[in-house]
Amino acid sequence: MCGIIGYIGKKDIAPILFQGLKRLEYRGYDSAGIATLASGFHIKKDVGKVDEIHQRLNFLDAPGTLGIAHTRWATHGGVTKENAHPHVDCEENIAVVHNGIIENYQELKRNLISLGHKFKSQTDTEVIPHLIEEMMKKGKNFTDATASALKSLEGSYAVLILNKNERKLFAARKGSPLVLGISDSGYFAASDIPAFLEYTKNVVYLHDYDLAVLTDNGIKVFNLMENREVERKVDTVNWDIRQAEKGEFDHFMLKEISEQVDTIQRASQQNKELINHVVEEMKNAHGIFLVGAGSSYHACVAASYIMSKVSKLHVNVVLASEFPYYEHYLTDKTLVIAVSQSGETADVLEAVKSAKAKKSKVISLVNVVGSSLTRTSDVFLNINAGPEICVLSTKTYTSQLALFILLSYALVNKYEEGKKKLTRLWNEIYHLTSATTRTKIKELAEKLRDKEHIFLIGRGLQYATAMEAALKIKEVSYIHAEAFAGGELKHGTIALIEDGTPCIVFVSEENEKEILSNAIEIKSRGGYIIGVSPKNNEIFDFWIKVPESNNENPIVQIIPIQILAYQLAVLRGLDPDHPRNLAKSVTVK
Ligand code: AGP
Repeated sequence: MCGIIGYIGKKDIAPILFQGLKRLEYRGYDSAGIATLASGFHIKKDVGKVDEIHQRLNFLDAPGTLGIAHTRWATHGGVTKENAHPHVDCEENIAVVHNGIIENYQELKRNLISLGHKFKSQTDTEVIPHLIEEMMKKGKNFTDATASALKSLEGSYAVLILNKNERKLFAARKGSPLVLGISDSGYFAASDIPAFLEYTKNVVYLHDYDLAVLTDNGIKVFNLMENREVERKVDTVNWDIRQAEKGEFDHFMLKEISEQVDTIQRASQQNKELINHVVEEMKNAHGIFLVGAGSSYHACVAASYIMSKVSKLHVNVVLASEFPYYEHYLTDKTLVIAVSQSGETADVLEAVKSAKAKKSKVISLVNVVGSSLTRTSDVFLNINAGPEICVLSTKTYTSQLALFILLSYALVNKYEEGKKKLTRLWNEIYHLTSATTRTKIKELAEKLRDKEHIFLIGRGLQYATAMEAALKIKEVSYIHAEAFAGGELKHGTIALIEDGTPCIVFVSEENEKEILSNAIEIKSRGGYIIGVSPKNNEIFDFWIKVPESNNENPIVQIIPIQILAYQLAVLRGLDPDHPRNLAKSVTVK
Protein backbone atom coordinates (compact mmCIF):
# COMPACT_ATOMS: atom_id res chain seq x y z
CA MET A 1 0.00 0.00 0.00
CA CYS A 2 1.28 3.51 -0.78
CA GLY A 3 0.11 7.03 -0.08
CA ILE A 4 -0.49 9.70 -2.69
CA ILE A 5 -1.42 13.37 -2.45
CA GLY A 6 -1.86 16.19 -4.98
CA TYR A 7 -3.03 19.81 -4.95
CA ILE A 8 -3.88 22.64 -7.34
CA GLY A 9 -4.75 26.13 -6.13
CA LYS A 10 -3.45 29.35 -4.68
CA LYS A 11 -1.22 27.99 -1.92
CA ASP A 12 2.48 27.09 -2.18
CA ILE A 13 2.59 23.43 -3.07
CA ALA A 14 5.72 22.35 -1.19
CA PRO A 15 4.47 22.48 2.44
CA ILE A 16 1.18 20.85 1.39
CA LEU A 17 2.98 17.91 -0.21
CA PHE A 18 5.57 17.60 2.57
CA GLN A 19 2.98 17.64 5.37
CA GLY A 20 0.71 15.39 3.33
CA LEU A 21 3.47 12.83 2.89
CA LYS A 22 4.09 12.82 6.64
CA ARG A 23 0.40 12.16 7.29
CA LEU A 24 0.38 9.36 4.71
CA GLU A 25 3.62 7.76 5.82
CA TYR A 26 1.74 5.09 7.77
CA ARG A 27 0.61 3.73 4.41
CA GLY A 28 4.13 2.96 3.29
CA TYR A 29 7.53 4.40 4.08
CA ASP A 30 10.40 2.82 2.20
CA SER A 31 10.77 5.71 -0.28
CA ALA A 32 9.05 8.95 -1.24
CA GLY A 33 8.99 11.64 -3.89
CA ILE A 34 7.31 14.77 -5.21
CA ALA A 35 6.78 16.48 -8.55
CA THR A 36 5.72 20.13 -8.79
CA LEU A 37 4.89 22.02 -11.99
CA ALA A 38 6.29 25.53 -12.32
CA SER A 39 7.62 26.22 -15.84
CA GLY A 40 8.60 22.60 -16.05
CA PHE A 41 8.73 19.71 -13.60
CA HIS A 42 10.67 19.82 -10.36
CA ILE A 43 11.10 16.23 -9.18
CA LYS A 44 12.68 15.13 -5.91
CA LYS A 45 12.64 11.47 -4.87
CA ASP A 46 14.76 8.97 -2.94
CA VAL A 47 14.72 5.98 -0.61
CA GLY A 48 14.12 6.38 3.10
CA LYS A 49 11.48 7.96 5.30
CA VAL A 50 10.04 11.35 4.39
CA ASP A 51 12.09 13.28 6.96
CA GLU A 52 15.31 11.53 5.94
CA ILE A 53 14.78 12.40 2.27
CA HIS A 54 13.83 15.95 3.18
CA GLN A 55 17.14 16.35 5.01
CA ARG A 56 18.92 15.36 1.80
CA LEU A 57 16.74 16.95 -0.90
CA ASN A 58 14.71 19.65 0.89
CA PHE A 59 11.15 19.04 -0.27
CA LEU A 60 10.20 22.53 0.95
CA ASP A 61 12.07 24.44 -1.75
CA ALA A 62 10.04 22.90 -4.58
CA PRO A 63 8.34 25.79 -6.47
CA GLY A 64 4.78 26.24 -7.71
CA THR A 65 1.18 25.77 -6.60
CA LEU A 66 0.48 22.49 -8.41
CA GLY A 67 2.03 19.13 -7.62
CA ILE A 68 1.81 15.48 -6.67
CA ALA A 69 3.60 13.32 -4.10
CA HIS A 70 3.97 9.67 -3.11
CA THR A 71 5.20 7.59 -0.19
CA ARG A 72 5.92 3.99 -1.12
CA TRP A 73 5.54 0.47 0.24
CA ALA A 74 7.38 -1.58 -2.40
CA THR A 75 5.39 -4.21 -4.26
CA HIS A 76 6.99 -4.35 -7.73
CA GLY A 77 10.71 -3.60 -7.80
CA GLY A 78 13.06 -3.16 -4.87
CA VAL A 79 13.51 -0.15 -2.62
CA THR A 80 15.64 2.04 -4.89
CA LYS A 81 15.66 5.68 -5.97
CA GLU A 82 14.73 4.68 -9.55
CA ASN A 83 11.68 2.78 -8.27
CA ALA A 84 10.49 5.67 -6.09
CA HIS A 85 7.60 7.69 -7.50
CA PRO A 86 6.87 9.98 -9.42
CA HIS A 87 7.51 8.21 -12.74
CA VAL A 88 7.73 10.02 -16.10
CA ASP A 89 7.45 9.27 -19.82
CA CYS A 90 10.34 9.34 -22.31
CA GLU A 91 10.03 13.09 -22.95
CA GLU A 92 9.41 13.87 -19.25
CA ASN A 93 6.16 15.68 -20.10
CA ILE A 94 4.03 13.43 -17.89
CA ALA A 95 4.51 12.69 -14.19
CA VAL A 96 2.56 9.99 -12.31
CA VAL A 97 2.21 8.73 -8.74
CA HIS A 98 0.26 5.53 -8.12
CA ASN A 99 -1.12 3.33 -5.35
CA GLY A 100 -2.22 -0.15 -6.39
CA ILE A 101 -1.11 -3.09 -8.50
CA ILE A 102 -1.18 -3.18 -12.32
CA GLU A 103 -1.56 -6.88 -12.99
CA ASN A 104 -0.91 -6.71 -16.75
CA TYR A 105 2.08 -4.36 -16.59
CA GLN A 106 4.64 -6.83 -18.02
CA GLU A 107 2.63 -7.26 -21.22
CA LEU A 108 2.05 -3.50 -21.49
CA LYS A 109 5.73 -2.82 -20.81
CA ARG A 110 6.89 -5.30 -23.46
CA ASN A 111 4.64 -3.67 -26.03
CA LEU A 112 5.77 -0.15 -25.11
CA ILE A 113 9.44 -1.19 -25.30
CA SER A 114 8.80 -2.67 -28.74
CA LEU A 115 7.44 0.78 -29.71
CA GLY A 116 10.70 2.36 -28.57
CA HIS A 117 9.87 3.50 -25.03
CA LYS A 118 12.75 3.54 -22.55
CA PHE A 119 12.09 2.50 -18.92
CA LYS A 120 14.16 3.46 -15.87
CA SER A 121 12.50 1.38 -13.12
CA GLN A 122 11.25 -2.13 -12.34
CA THR A 123 7.88 -0.79 -11.19
CA ASP A 124 4.46 -1.55 -12.65
CA THR A 125 3.58 2.15 -12.32
CA GLU A 126 6.05 3.37 -14.93
CA VAL A 127 3.91 1.95 -17.74
CA ILE A 128 1.26 4.61 -17.08
CA PRO A 129 3.11 7.76 -18.30
CA HIS A 130 4.46 5.85 -21.30
CA LEU A 131 0.96 4.58 -22.19
CA ILE A 132 -0.40 8.13 -22.11
CA GLU A 133 2.56 9.31 -24.20
CA GLU A 134 1.88 6.56 -26.75
CA MET A 135 -1.82 7.43 -26.95
CA MET A 136 -0.96 11.10 -27.54
CA LYS A 137 1.34 10.06 -30.38
CA LYS A 138 -1.79 8.59 -31.96
CA GLY A 139 -3.39 12.03 -31.91
CA LYS A 140 -5.46 11.93 -28.71
CA ASN A 141 -5.58 14.98 -26.46
CA PHE A 142 -4.18 14.49 -22.95
CA THR A 143 -7.52 13.77 -21.24
CA ASP A 144 -8.57 11.19 -23.85
CA ALA A 145 -5.08 9.68 -23.88
CA THR A 146 -5.23 9.36 -20.09
CA ALA A 147 -8.70 7.77 -20.25
CA SER A 148 -7.54 5.24 -22.85
CA ALA A 149 -4.42 4.42 -20.89
CA LEU A 150 -6.40 3.83 -17.69
CA LYS A 151 -8.90 1.59 -19.52
CA SER A 152 -6.03 -0.66 -20.60
CA LEU A 153 -4.91 -1.28 -17.01
CA GLU A 154 -5.91 -4.49 -15.20
CA GLY A 155 -5.67 -4.62 -11.41
CA SER A 156 -6.01 -1.64 -9.08
CA TYR A 157 -4.95 1.98 -9.22
CA ALA A 158 -5.31 5.33 -7.54
CA VAL A 159 -3.27 7.70 -9.68
CA LEU A 160 -2.40 11.38 -9.77
CA ILE A 161 -1.10 12.66 -13.09
CA LEU A 162 0.46 15.93 -14.27
CA ASN A 163 0.93 17.08 -17.85
CA LYS A 164 3.79 19.57 -18.16
CA ASN A 165 1.82 21.55 -20.76
CA GLU A 166 -1.48 21.91 -18.85
CA ARG A 167 -2.24 23.47 -15.48
CA LYS A 168 -4.48 20.57 -14.40
CA LEU A 169 -4.36 17.75 -11.87
CA PHE A 170 -5.75 14.41 -13.07
CA ALA A 171 -6.98 11.97 -10.41
CA ALA A 172 -8.37 8.49 -11.07
CA ARG A 173 -9.17 5.34 -9.09
CA LYS A 174 -10.09 1.73 -9.53
CA GLY A 175 -9.89 -0.54 -6.51
CA SER A 176 -7.61 1.75 -4.48
CA PRO A 177 -8.82 4.62 -2.32
CA LEU A 178 -8.79 8.22 -3.57
CA VAL A 179 -10.64 11.13 -2.02
CA LEU A 180 -10.83 14.78 -3.12
CA GLY A 181 -10.71 17.77 -0.78
CA ILE A 182 -12.58 20.97 -1.65
CA SER A 183 -11.35 24.25 -0.13
CA ASP A 184 -11.54 27.96 -0.91
CA SER A 185 -7.82 27.99 -1.68
CA GLY A 186 -7.77 25.04 -4.02
CA TYR A 187 -8.41 21.34 -4.56
CA PHE A 188 -6.76 18.25 -3.09
CA ALA A 189 -6.62 14.59 -4.01
CA ALA A 190 -5.23 11.98 -1.62
CA SER A 191 -5.33 8.34 -0.54
CA ASP A 192 -6.73 9.31 2.83
CA ILE A 193 -8.44 12.34 4.40
CA PRO A 194 -5.81 13.10 7.12
CA ALA A 195 -3.41 14.11 4.31
CA PHE A 196 -5.33 17.37 3.75
CA LEU A 197 -7.66 17.52 6.77
CA GLU A 198 -6.02 20.69 8.15
CA TYR A 199 -7.14 22.55 4.99
CA THR A 200 -10.68 21.26 4.56
CA LYS A 201 -13.32 18.87 5.86
CA ASN A 202 -15.28 18.94 2.60
CA VAL A 203 -14.57 15.75 0.73
CA VAL A 204 -15.65 13.89 -2.40
CA TYR A 205 -15.20 10.12 -2.44
CA LEU A 206 -14.34 9.04 -5.99
CA HIS A 207 -15.90 5.83 -7.27
CA ASP A 208 -14.15 3.08 -9.23
CA TYR A 209 -13.45 4.13 -12.85
CA ASP A 210 -13.82 7.83 -11.98
CA LEU A 211 -11.37 10.20 -13.67
CA ALA A 212 -11.42 13.66 -12.04
CA VAL A 213 -9.87 16.73 -13.66
CA LEU A 214 -8.99 19.37 -11.06
CA THR A 215 -8.30 22.95 -12.20
CA ASP A 216 -8.12 26.32 -10.43
CA ASN A 217 -11.81 26.80 -11.26
CA GLY A 218 -13.18 23.52 -9.99
CA ILE A 219 -13.52 19.78 -10.56
CA LYS A 220 -15.09 17.69 -13.30
CA VAL A 221 -15.55 13.94 -12.84
CA PHE A 222 -15.92 11.45 -15.70
CA ASN A 223 -16.69 7.78 -15.24
CA LEU A 224 -14.75 5.58 -17.66
CA MET A 225 -17.27 2.73 -17.47
CA GLU A 226 -20.31 4.96 -18.02
CA ASN A 227 -18.35 7.08 -20.51
CA ARG A 228 -19.93 10.27 -19.27
CA GLU A 229 -19.49 13.14 -16.82
CA VAL A 230 -20.93 12.30 -13.39
CA GLU A 231 -21.90 14.22 -10.25
CA ARG A 232 -20.26 13.17 -6.98
CA LYS A 233 -21.66 14.29 -3.58
CA VAL A 234 -19.62 16.58 -1.31
CA ASP A 235 -19.48 15.15 2.24
CA THR A 236 -18.24 16.88 5.39
CA VAL A 237 -16.16 14.72 7.73
CA ASN A 238 -16.48 15.17 11.50
CA TRP A 239 -12.84 14.46 12.27
CA ASP A 240 -10.57 17.21 13.47
CA ILE A 241 -6.91 17.49 12.65
CA ARG A 242 -5.82 16.72 16.22
CA GLN A 243 -7.04 13.17 15.63
CA ALA A 244 -4.55 12.89 12.81
CA GLU A 245 -1.68 14.26 14.90
CA LYS A 246 0.31 12.76 17.78
CA GLY A 247 -0.35 15.64 20.20
CA GLU A 248 1.52 15.11 23.47
CA PHE A 249 2.20 11.44 22.72
CA ASP A 250 5.53 10.12 21.43
CA HIS A 251 3.82 7.78 19.01
CA PHE A 252 0.43 7.37 17.39
CA MET A 253 0.28 3.87 18.88
CA LEU A 254 0.14 5.13 22.47
CA LYS A 255 -2.20 7.95 21.50
CA GLU A 256 -4.62 5.55 19.84
CA ILE A 257 -4.44 3.09 22.75
CA SER A 258 -5.39 5.98 25.04
CA GLU A 259 -8.25 7.07 22.77
CA GLN A 260 -10.07 3.80 23.56
CA VAL A 261 -11.68 5.51 26.54
CA ASP A 262 -13.79 7.38 23.99
CA THR A 263 -13.73 5.24 20.85
CA ILE A 264 -15.53 2.33 22.51
CA GLN A 265 -18.31 4.70 23.53
CA ARG A 266 -18.45 6.07 19.98
CA ALA A 267 -18.65 2.56 18.52
CA SER A 268 -21.73 1.92 20.66
CA GLN A 269 -23.48 5.05 19.33
CA GLN A 270 -25.05 3.49 16.26
CA ASN A 271 -28.09 4.22 14.15
CA LYS A 272 -30.60 1.93 15.85
CA GLU A 273 -32.64 1.37 12.70
CA LEU A 274 -29.53 0.26 10.88
CA ILE A 275 -28.63 -2.11 13.72
CA ASN A 276 -32.14 -3.54 13.61
CA HIS A 277 -31.85 -3.99 9.85
CA VAL A 278 -28.56 -5.87 10.28
CA VAL A 279 -30.10 -7.98 13.03
CA GLU A 280 -33.00 -8.92 10.74
CA GLU A 281 -30.56 -9.90 7.98
CA MET A 282 -28.69 -12.08 10.47
CA LYS A 283 -31.89 -13.74 11.70
CA ASN A 284 -33.06 -14.48 8.15
CA ALA A 285 -29.73 -15.72 6.82
CA HIS A 286 -29.04 -19.40 6.13
CA GLY A 287 -25.39 -19.46 7.15
CA ILE A 288 -23.43 -16.48 8.40
CA PHE A 289 -19.72 -16.00 7.73
CA LEU A 290 -17.59 -13.52 9.68
CA VAL A 291 -14.59 -12.65 7.51
CA GLY A 292 -11.50 -10.56 8.23
CA ALA A 293 -7.71 -10.47 8.28
CA GLY A 294 -5.26 -9.95 11.13
CA SER A 295 -6.77 -8.13 14.07
CA SER A 296 -10.10 -7.86 12.27
CA TYR A 297 -10.11 -11.65 12.03
CA HIS A 298 -9.44 -11.91 15.76
CA ALA A 299 -12.42 -9.64 16.38
CA CYS A 300 -14.48 -12.11 14.34
CA VAL A 301 -13.21 -15.01 16.46
CA ALA A 302 -14.18 -13.19 19.67
CA ALA A 303 -17.56 -12.31 18.12
CA SER A 304 -18.28 -15.98 17.38
CA TYR A 305 -17.96 -16.85 21.09
CA ILE A 306 -20.05 -13.85 22.17
CA MET A 307 -22.79 -14.59 19.62
CA SER A 308 -22.86 -18.21 20.75
CA LYS A 309 -23.15 -17.20 24.44
CA VAL A 310 -25.41 -14.16 24.19
CA SER A 311 -27.42 -14.71 20.98
CA LYS A 312 -27.33 -18.54 20.86
CA LEU A 313 -26.34 -18.02 17.23
CA HIS A 314 -23.89 -20.12 15.25
CA VAL A 315 -21.59 -18.16 12.94
CA ASN A 316 -18.68 -19.37 10.80
CA VAL A 317 -15.39 -17.49 11.15
CA VAL A 318 -13.03 -17.56 8.18
CA LEU A 319 -9.76 -15.82 7.36
CA ALA A 320 -10.42 -13.46 4.44
CA SER A 321 -7.62 -15.03 2.36
CA GLU A 322 -9.17 -18.48 2.87
CA PHE A 323 -12.75 -17.44 2.24
CA PRO A 324 -12.86 -17.91 -1.57
CA TYR A 325 -12.31 -21.65 -0.94
CA TYR A 326 -15.73 -21.75 0.70
CA GLU A 327 -17.52 -20.29 -2.31
CA HIS A 328 -18.96 -23.72 -3.27
CA TYR A 329 -21.08 -23.49 -0.12
CA LEU A 330 -22.42 -19.99 -0.63
CA THR A 331 -25.98 -19.29 -1.74
CA ASP A 332 -28.17 -16.19 -2.10
CA LYS A 333 -29.31 -16.90 1.47
CA THR A 334 -25.80 -16.66 2.90
CA LEU A 335 -24.81 -13.56 4.84
CA VAL A 336 -21.16 -12.47 4.85
CA ILE A 337 -20.11 -9.97 7.51
CA ALA A 338 -16.81 -8.49 6.32
CA VAL A 339 -14.66 -6.71 8.91
CA SER A 340 -11.91 -4.30 7.89
CA GLN A 341 -10.89 -1.05 9.59
CA SER A 342 -9.32 0.32 6.37
CA GLY A 343 -11.93 -1.10 4.05
CA GLU A 344 -9.10 -1.64 1.55
CA THR A 345 -7.61 -5.00 2.53
CA ALA A 346 -7.32 -6.90 -0.74
CA ASP A 347 -8.05 -10.28 0.89
CA VAL A 348 -11.30 -8.93 2.30
CA LEU A 349 -12.30 -7.28 -0.98
CA GLU A 350 -11.61 -10.57 -2.79
CA ALA A 351 -13.71 -12.46 -0.26
CA VAL A 352 -16.56 -10.01 -0.78
CA LYS A 353 -16.23 -10.38 -4.55
CA SER A 354 -16.58 -14.17 -4.29
CA ALA A 355 -19.60 -13.76 -1.99
CA LYS A 356 -21.34 -11.37 -4.35
CA ALA A 357 -20.66 -13.68 -7.27
CA LYS A 358 -22.89 -16.18 -5.45
CA LYS A 359 -25.46 -13.43 -4.71
CA SER A 360 -24.79 -13.66 -0.99
CA LYS A 361 -25.61 -10.57 1.10
CA VAL A 362 -22.62 -8.57 2.36
CA ILE A 363 -22.64 -6.41 5.47
CA SER A 364 -19.39 -4.79 6.60
CA LEU A 365 -17.91 -3.24 9.74
CA VAL A 366 -15.57 -0.47 8.56
CA ASN A 367 -13.71 2.52 9.97
CA VAL A 368 -12.98 4.42 6.76
CA VAL A 369 -16.17 5.71 5.15
CA GLY A 370 -15.83 5.92 1.38
CA SER A 371 -13.39 3.02 1.30
CA SER A 372 -13.79 0.29 -1.31
CA LEU A 373 -15.47 -2.05 1.19
CA THR A 374 -18.15 0.50 2.08
CA ARG A 375 -18.95 0.72 -1.62
CA THR A 376 -19.06 -3.00 -2.36
CA SER A 377 -21.18 -3.93 0.70
CA ASP A 378 -24.96 -4.00 0.69
CA VAL A 379 -24.85 -2.29 4.10
CA PHE A 380 -21.97 -1.04 6.23
CA LEU A 381 -21.69 -0.13 9.92
CA ASN A 382 -19.17 2.55 10.84
CA ILE A 383 -17.08 1.66 13.91
CA ASN A 384 -16.41 5.41 14.29
CA ALA A 385 -12.88 5.07 15.73
CA GLY A 386 -11.53 8.07 13.81
CA PRO A 387 -8.29 7.87 11.77
CA GLU A 388 -5.95 5.14 12.98
CA ILE A 389 -2.48 6.18 11.87
CA CYS A 390 -0.32 3.59 13.63
CA VAL A 391 0.15 0.49 11.51
CA LEU A 392 -1.11 -1.61 14.43
CA SER A 393 -4.82 -1.93 15.00
CA THR A 394 -5.57 -1.04 18.61
CA LYS A 395 -8.58 1.28 19.01
CA THR A 396 -10.18 -0.09 15.83
CA TYR A 397 -9.90 -3.65 17.16
CA THR A 398 -11.75 -2.83 20.37
CA SER A 399 -14.29 -0.75 18.43
CA GLN A 400 -14.99 -3.74 16.20
CA LEU A 401 -15.50 -5.82 19.36
CA ALA A 402 -17.82 -3.19 20.82
CA LEU A 403 -19.97 -3.22 17.69
CA PHE A 404 -20.13 -7.02 17.66
CA ILE A 405 -21.15 -7.01 21.34
CA LEU A 406 -23.92 -4.51 20.56
CA LEU A 407 -25.14 -6.69 17.68
CA SER A 408 -25.06 -9.81 19.87
CA TYR A 409 -27.37 -8.23 22.45
CA ALA A 410 -29.56 -6.64 19.79
CA LEU A 411 -30.08 -10.12 18.29
CA VAL A 412 -31.92 -11.13 21.47
CA ASN A 413 -33.73 -7.79 21.83
CA LYS A 414 -31.35 -6.54 24.52
CA TYR A 415 -29.84 -3.62 22.55
CA GLU A 416 -30.09 -1.19 25.48
CA GLU A 417 -28.54 -3.74 27.84
CA GLY A 418 -25.63 -4.20 25.45
CA LYS A 419 -25.21 -0.46 25.11
CA LYS A 420 -25.20 -0.09 28.90
CA LYS A 421 -22.54 -2.75 29.31
CA LEU A 422 -20.29 -0.87 26.89
CA THR A 423 -20.97 2.48 28.53
CA ARG A 424 -20.02 0.99 31.91
CA LEU A 425 -16.57 0.10 30.56
CA TRP A 426 -15.57 3.76 30.49
CA ASN A 427 -14.03 3.78 34.00
CA GLU A 428 -12.31 0.44 33.54
CA ILE A 429 -10.66 1.56 30.31
CA TYR A 430 -9.72 4.91 31.78
CA HIS A 431 -7.77 3.06 34.49
CA LEU A 432 -6.32 0.50 32.08
CA THR A 433 -4.90 3.25 29.84
CA SER A 434 -3.70 5.39 32.78
CA ALA A 435 -0.10 6.25 33.61
CA THR A 436 -0.38 4.01 36.70
CA THR A 437 -1.10 0.95 34.58
CA ARG A 438 1.56 1.94 32.04
CA THR A 439 4.17 2.15 34.82
CA LYS A 440 3.20 -1.28 36.14
CA ILE A 441 3.38 -2.83 32.69
CA LYS A 442 6.73 -1.19 32.03
CA GLU A 443 8.15 -3.39 34.82
CA LEU A 444 6.99 -6.43 32.87
CA ALA A 445 8.33 -5.05 29.60
CA GLU A 446 11.77 -4.69 31.22
CA LYS A 447 11.66 -8.39 32.18
CA LEU A 448 10.57 -9.54 28.70
CA ARG A 449 12.54 -7.15 26.48
CA ASP A 450 15.26 -9.66 25.57
CA LYS A 451 13.09 -12.75 25.38
CA GLU A 452 13.00 -14.63 22.07
CA HIS A 453 9.65 -16.36 22.58
CA ILE A 454 6.48 -15.50 24.47
CA PHE A 455 3.53 -17.90 24.67
CA LEU A 456 -0.02 -16.85 25.38
CA ILE A 457 -2.99 -19.01 26.42
CA GLY A 458 -6.67 -18.53 26.99
CA ARG A 459 -9.93 -20.45 26.80
CA GLY A 460 -13.15 -19.40 25.08
CA LEU A 461 -13.28 -15.62 24.67
CA GLN A 462 -9.83 -15.42 26.23
CA TYR A 463 -8.40 -17.57 23.44
CA ALA A 464 -9.41 -14.89 20.92
CA THR A 465 -7.70 -12.32 23.13
CA ALA A 466 -4.55 -14.47 23.28
CA MET A 467 -4.47 -14.54 19.46
CA GLU A 468 -4.76 -10.76 19.17
CA ALA A 469 -2.24 -10.23 21.97
CA ALA A 470 0.30 -12.45 20.21
CA LEU A 471 -0.08 -10.46 17.00
CA LYS A 472 0.42 -7.14 18.80
CA ILE A 473 3.64 -8.33 20.43
CA LYS A 474 5.03 -9.90 17.24
CA GLU A 475 4.35 -7.12 14.79
CA VAL A 476 5.74 -4.25 16.84
CA SER A 477 8.56 -5.75 18.99
CA TYR A 478 9.61 -8.57 16.61
CA ILE A 479 9.60 -11.03 19.55
CA HIS A 480 8.13 -14.35 18.45
CA ALA A 481 4.77 -14.72 20.25
CA GLU A 482 2.33 -17.56 19.81
CA ALA A 483 -1.20 -18.04 21.13
CA PHE A 484 -2.78 -21.35 22.07
CA ALA A 485 -6.12 -22.49 23.32
CA GLY A 486 -5.36 -23.42 26.92
CA GLY A 487 -6.43 -27.00 26.44
CA GLU A 488 -4.32 -27.40 23.32
CA LEU A 489 -0.90 -26.71 24.81
CA LYS A 490 -0.46 -30.25 26.14
CA HIS A 491 -1.05 -31.67 22.65
CA GLY A 492 2.53 -30.93 21.62
CA THR A 493 3.52 -27.31 22.03
CA ILE A 494 4.25 -27.72 25.74
CA ALA A 495 7.44 -29.43 24.56
CA LEU A 496 8.75 -25.94 23.80
CA ILE A 497 8.48 -24.73 27.39
CA GLU A 498 11.88 -24.28 29.03
CA ASP A 499 13.12 -22.70 32.21
CA GLY A 500 12.02 -19.04 32.20
CA THR A 501 9.82 -19.26 29.09
CA PRO A 502 7.29 -16.45 29.57
CA CYS A 503 3.62 -17.36 29.21
CA ILE A 504 0.80 -14.84 29.42
CA VAL A 505 -2.38 -16.44 30.79
CA PHE A 506 -5.76 -14.78 30.26
CA VAL A 507 -8.11 -15.67 33.10
CA SER A 508 -11.85 -15.19 33.43
CA GLU A 509 -14.40 -16.51 35.88
CA GLU A 510 -16.01 -18.61 33.13
CA ASN A 511 -13.05 -20.99 32.87
CA GLU A 512 -10.69 -19.95 35.66
CA LYS A 513 -10.10 -23.45 37.02
CA GLU A 514 -9.26 -24.99 33.67
CA ILE A 515 -6.93 -22.25 32.46
CA LEU A 516 -5.08 -22.12 35.80
CA SER A 517 -4.46 -25.86 35.57
CA ASN A 518 -2.97 -25.23 32.12
CA ALA A 519 -0.81 -22.52 33.71
CA ILE A 520 0.38 -24.98 36.34
CA GLU A 521 1.40 -27.41 33.56
CA ILE A 522 3.60 -24.66 32.13
CA LYS A 523 4.93 -23.50 35.51
CA SER A 524 5.90 -27.03 36.49
CA ARG A 525 8.15 -27.07 33.42
CA GLY A 526 9.90 -23.84 34.40
CA GLY A 527 7.62 -21.35 32.66
CA TYR A 528 7.36 -17.71 33.88
CA ILE A 529 3.62 -17.07 34.34
CA ILE A 530 2.11 -13.66 33.69
CA GLY A 531 -1.52 -13.59 34.79
CA VAL A 532 -3.97 -11.19 33.12
CA SER A 533 -6.68 -11.81 35.67
CA PRO A 534 -9.30 -10.20 37.96
CA LYS A 535 -7.68 -11.99 40.93
CA ASN A 536 -4.06 -12.68 41.84
CA ASN A 537 -2.89 -16.27 42.22
CA GLU A 538 0.19 -17.93 43.69
CA ILE A 539 0.93 -19.41 40.25
CA PHE A 540 1.54 -15.93 38.82
CA ASP A 541 5.09 -14.60 38.69
CA PHE A 542 3.62 -11.28 37.48
CA TRP A 543 -0.01 -10.19 37.80
CA ILE A 544 -1.81 -7.68 35.62
CA LYS A 545 -5.11 -6.86 37.28
CA VAL A 546 -8.09 -6.51 34.96
CA PRO A 547 -11.78 -6.21 35.87
CA GLU A 548 -13.96 -9.28 35.36
CA SER A 549 -16.05 -8.10 32.41
CA ASN A 550 -17.50 -11.43 31.17
CA ASN A 551 -18.57 -10.93 27.54
CA GLU A 552 -16.67 -7.66 27.39
CA ASN A 553 -13.41 -9.31 28.53
CA PRO A 554 -11.91 -9.21 25.01
CA ILE A 555 -12.02 -5.40 25.20
CA VAL A 556 -10.54 -4.93 28.67
CA GLN A 557 -8.01 -7.77 28.57
CA ILE A 558 -6.29 -6.72 25.34
CA ILE A 559 -5.49 -3.18 26.48
CA PRO A 560 -2.65 -4.08 28.92
CA ILE A 561 -1.04 -6.17 26.21
CA GLN A 562 -1.36 -3.38 23.63
CA ILE A 563 0.61 -1.26 26.14
CA LEU A 564 3.10 -4.10 26.76
CA ALA A 565 3.69 -4.51 23.02
CA TYR A 566 4.24 -0.75 22.68
CA GLN A 567 6.70 -0.64 25.56
CA LEU A 568 8.62 -3.66 24.31
CA ALA A 569 9.06 -1.93 20.94
CA VAL A 570 10.28 1.29 22.54
CA LEU A 571 12.66 -0.58 24.88
CA ARG A 572 14.04 -2.44 21.87
CA GLY A 573 14.68 0.84 20.05
CA LEU A 574 11.99 0.27 17.43
CA ASP A 575 9.44 2.67 15.92
CA PRO A 576 6.00 1.42 17.06
CA ASP A 577 4.20 3.39 14.36
CA HIS A 578 6.22 2.01 11.44
CA PRO A 579 7.12 -1.66 12.03
CA ARG A 580 9.43 -3.15 9.40
CA ASN A 581 7.83 -4.82 6.34
CA LEU A 582 4.29 -3.80 7.39
CA ALA A 583 1.75 -1.37 5.95
CA LYS A 584 -1.43 -0.05 7.47
CA SER A 585 -3.63 -1.65 4.92
CA VAL A 586 -2.51 -4.65 2.89
CA THR A 587 -3.90 -3.85 -0.54
CA VAL A 588 -2.13 -6.76 -2.21
CA LYS A 589 -3.36 -10.38 -2.22
C1 AGP B 1 -3.12 -5.45 13.03
O1 AGP B 1 -2.40 -4.80 14.07
C2 AGP B 1 -2.37 -5.43 11.73
N1 AGP B 1 -2.03 -4.11 11.35
C3 AGP B 1 -3.08 -6.19 10.63
O2 AGP B 1 -3.17 -7.54 11.03
C4 AGP B 1 -4.50 -5.69 10.28
O3 AGP B 1 -5.39 -5.98 11.33
C5 AGP B 1 -4.95 -6.44 9.02
O4 AGP B 1 -4.07 -6.14 7.96
C6 AGP B 1 -6.39 -6.09 8.62
O5 AGP B 1 -6.50 -4.72 8.32
P1 AGP B 1 -7.97 -4.12 8.08
O6 AGP B 1 -8.71 -4.19 9.38
O7 AGP B 1 -7.74 -2.72 7.62
O8 AGP B 1 -8.62 -4.99 7.02
